[in-house]
Amino acid sequence: ATSNRVRLVEVGPRDGLQNEKKTIPLTTKIELISRLAKTGLTDIEAGSFVAPKWVPQMADSKEIMEYILKYPPTSLNPIAYSFLAPNAKGLQTALSILKAHPNAYSTLSEQATPAYKSSSLPNESTADPTTKRPLIELSVFAAATESFTQKNLNCSIAESLSKFQEVIEGAKEQDLRVRAYISVVLGCPFEGYDVDPHRVAEIACDLMQMGADEISLGDTTGMGTAPRTKELLKAMRSAGIRSEDIAMHFHDTYGQALVNTAVSLESGITTFDSSVGGIGGCPYSPGATGNVSTEDMIYFVESLGMTTGVDLDAVTDIGAWITNEIGKENSSSVGKAILGK
Ligand code: HMG
Ligand code: MG
Repeated sequence: ATSNRVRLVEVGPRDGLQNEKKTIPLTTKIELISRLAKTGLTDIEAGSFVAPKWVPQMADSKEIMEYILKYPPTSLNPIAYSFLAPNAKGLQTALSILKAHPNAYSTLSEQATPAYKSSSLPNESTADPTTKRPLIELSVFAAATESFTQKNLNCSIAESLSKFQEVIEGAKEQDLRVRAYISVVLGCPFEGYDVDPHRVAEIACDLMQMGADEISLGDTTGMGTAPRTKELLKAMRSAGIRSEDIAMHFHDTYGQALVNTAVSLESGITTFDSSVGGIGGCPYSPGATGNVSTEDMIYFVESLGMTTGVDLDAVTDIGAWITNEIGKENSSSVGKAILGK
């Protein structure tokens, strides 16, 4: 069955906030996540277990995960909350919190299969509604160039992959789902457009072989164009990676995110990352702006007769609120249009 469902992964609480210089109160972060949980989203990236001296804004991610496990936010649908974990230390942090909240596991089995998974099965009626979907997921993050990997992770691509192997194995032992990002897939702040799509596909294959459940392809710089997006997805297909295992992660620095989304949809991709209010930027990608906004994505996807299951008006209100809280302009065109009506 062909599905008209598009799955949005809300990355605002992590990608949107990680680069903010002024410390955002923990209560604001938790309020953001709790409000997003009520909009119909199925996936919320909630924090990052990285070195606080590198990314100080994410230093309270432990408290965020503890809060989610203690008081799972009210929602109408099952939600997975994901956290970045680039190495053994990040993994250990996540596992120690999970172990301190053994009840978290019992609520997990109650979670129904998310709509996007059941609808990707050949026959929707065969979907098992009781399939486990843990509340917590982890993400590792590779990059397609050596120079970006050095800046972001302080090691080579090969070294980063061996660290991720450890994280993925440890997560899998606990039945956690793991997403694997690959950054700078359509352009690098240090190497420009000189990013080989086949190298991206090779890294993706390595990560899938390690057990990653999904690859999120990051256009970190927003330099991606429609033809290059098409070429990249063709290389992924040639390498044998299924479109249902790919998510696209567009930053909108050059204003190409929706065009690249259209091309990706045509290539069969149904999972996209976005951030409420278009908040964000990458600390190691100078000048990069936020992800394409969740508001713009919902509006665009619905205009094509597809559905996200996410409430546009609710997300618009959250976009207005959080951009005001952090003293940033709302960079969602759709959000601003709705608010200005
Ligand atoms: P390093 O300095 O090579 O690591 O950093 P190290 O092992 O030598 O440790 C140095 C210090 O960091 C030690 O502390 C460690 O304990 C600590 P000290 O002894 O100096 O007090 N440390 C940690 N602390 C907490 N959690 C950890 C951890 N690991 C080490 N997990 C490291 C290597 C990867 C840690 C570092 O480079 C780092 O944290 N980088 C941050 C990278 C990052 O968060 N980037 C932004 C996210 S990726 C992104 O935004 C792109 C994405 O959105 C997709 C896209 O748009 O393309 C996903
Ligand atoms: Mg990003």
